Amino acid sequence: MAGGVIQNRCERRVLTPRQKYAMYVWTDGFDRDVSGCGLTEFLAWDSRGPCFTHTWNTAEKRAWNTCNLPGREVSAIFVSDVHQNLKRAKDTADCSSADINTVRQMLSEGHSQVPNLKIYGLYATSDLPVSERNLVQYIVHYNDNCASNPNERFDGVAVNNEAYAGIKCNSDAERTQYLDALAEIAVEAEKQTNGHLLTHYSMGWHWGICDGAPSAITWRGNTYNANHHMIDIFNSTDVQVGYIIHPRISDRMRSGGYDHAMAAGKSIFTTVYTNPTSLCQTTFFPNGTCFIQGHSEAAMFERFDEFSINNITHARPCIHYFRGIYSTGVHADWPSLYS
Ligand SMILES: *[C@@H]1O[C@H](CO)[C@@H](O)[C@H](O)[C@H]1NC(C)=O
Ligand SMILES: *[C@@H]1O[C@H](CO)[C@@H](O)[C@H](O)[C@H]1NC(C)=O
Repeated sequence: MAGGVIQNRCERRVLTPRQKYAMYVWTDGFDRDVSGCGLTEFLAWDSRGPCFTHTWNTAEKRAWNTCNLPGREVSAIFVSDVHQNLKRAKDTADCSSADINTVRQMLSEGHSQVPNLKIYGLYATSDLPVSERNLVQYIVHYNDNCASNPNERFDGVAVNNEAYAGIKCNSDAERTQYLDALAEIAVEAEKQTNGHLLTHYSMGWHWGICDGAPSAITWRGNTYNANHHMIDIFNSTDVQVGYIIHPRISDRMRSGGYDHAMAAGKSIFTTVYTNPTSLCQTTFFPNGTCFIQGHSEAAMFERFDEFSINNITHARPCIHYFRGIYSTGVHADWPSLYS
């Protein structure tokens, strides 16, 4: 009898599928463990001040239980600060530095403490020549030469290059040049010999729209909007929807290529901001006076749960970003999920 009860309980746990959210992890985030960093400092949000510390360079800061919150599990993280350290390892053919050791620890901890977690190295040069394409080689080198087992490898490379926003209405020649450069990211990723490096890219929801109308461009034999070409290039994409309620969120997902991603069988994420931005309707950051209400973690989760009634059932939520403000624990509406 007792055995049966335990078995049922286990079964129930096994049958509840983990969510597959994504989360950005920038180099620095708000750190309530720094003395003098309380609610006032949090609301003032000086991201260059002492209350912001590195998000993953010590064991205490690598708060993996953030990814294991029941019902809100994260299965992909895009982790920044992997440029100079990995570049040095390649340039000097030396994987034994303290920096590289920290990278290896971060990766192996994440992979062992969060089931099926995919960890992407994040680059965000965000320039028109897409110089991120020249950085993919450092992740490839690290994976092939520094990682001592698959748990220490990056699963992918994520690129946050928003330069296309500035040329979305420019000539076909300029837009083609950008897409060509973007496609080199996938070519560089293919050069990895140990396993396949996944590629991920972040898009603006309106990049396929010019002067209010869809703007198609022919590229590599297909004629459709830029978001669709971008979805074709990468293994997965996220759409920065810049809004906190439906139907704006779901409408912007559709503008951003949701149906195209579904038809191509590719993952597409809905990226929401939690950090302060200039317009209160674009972020879940605390704001009691905004003309649109719902600036809390609970409200954010409710919006996620409304994806299916808004016909974006298979879009996966993406939180921007860890400790900015998700998981900060310094505001009643943003509980801590670490420590
Ligand atoms: C990722 O994209 C590459 C290039 O298009 C493709 O070869 C590979 O099969 C994709 N991987 C997955 C897991 O979809
Ligand atoms: C969702 O799709 C259904 C069926 O196509 C449609 O009736 C409904 O109006 C759509 N809802 C939204 C919010 O787009």
